[in-house]
Amino acid sequence: MNEGILLLDGSPRGTKSNTMPVTRAFLDGICETAPQPVTTLEIRQLQIEPCRGCFGCWKATPGQCVIHDDMQQVMDAMHQSQIILVSFPVYYYGLPGPVKTLLDRTLPVMLPYNGGPTLHRVRKDMKGKRFVFISTCGFQSTDGIYDAFRVQLRGIFGAEQPLLITVPQADLMHAEPVKKYTQRRLDAVHRLGTQFARGEIDEQLLAECGKPMIRKWIYQKMVSSFYGDGEET
Ligand SMILES: Cc1cc2nc3c(=O)[nH]c(=O)nc-3n(C[C@H](O)[C@H](O)[C@H](O)COP(=O)(O)O)c2cc1C
Repeated sequence: MNEGILLLDGSPRGTKSNTMPVTRAFLDGICETAPQPVTTLEIRQLQIEPCRGCFGCWKATPGQCVIHDDMQQVMDAMHQSQIILVSFPVYYYGLPGPVKTLLDRTLPVMLPYNGGPTLHRVRKDMKGKRFVFISTCGFQSTDGIYDAFRVQLRGIFGAEQPLLITVPQADLMHAEPVKKYTQRRLDAVHRLGTQFARGEIDEQLLAECGKPMIRKWIYQKMVSSFYGDGEET
């Protein structure tokens, strides 16, 4: 079986997540256009040990990790799904630790490094899957925030780059006074989901989704009234 969507929710914040409303809007756009099952795994609920770096998955037991924990459930779901969607908040310009730990543990799906070009090569049972990364960040703009992550994606996925949807100012996501603006952004992401299901992403719409939702100075006022002026107390 190779169908449906696997959603890996990488926020530790459950129902308070800023990222999940964005992710749900995208999923709704896909599923209203091309109905299909969605399997959700909340990374925060899984027991996933860090990779031990033993390369057992390349040598002793090719394609199989030596650690027996909840990562097996993730790998099974990845193998069974056609679309793999990772939803995560930016932490220090990159992936939160538990999401990176999960990513490291996918090494069994990669072919052993053969001394050649530095790109990772995926085993054939993972070929043809569509990857999507959806992320929010708290800064007022996405400028520079995802540069390092984009480099990482280029290294890992090479020519078959996954879709990366980013939304800044995400701490507005549950704020009632600006609901009009957040809803507008969610509607745009919903349209991206529809386009993704049809295989035709509009790059301009994708770029729009990465723009600030409200004026930067208003965001700054709202954030500083919440956290204070950022000075030492
Ligand atoms: C430890 C930590 C580090 C963060 N680092 C950044 C950062 O480098 N840049 C940024 O824009 N936001 C950063 N944020 C803010 C989150 O990315 C932002 O609040 C996000 O929307 C949270 O998503 P979630 O509610 O789905 O977990 C950080 C938050 C935490 C807790």
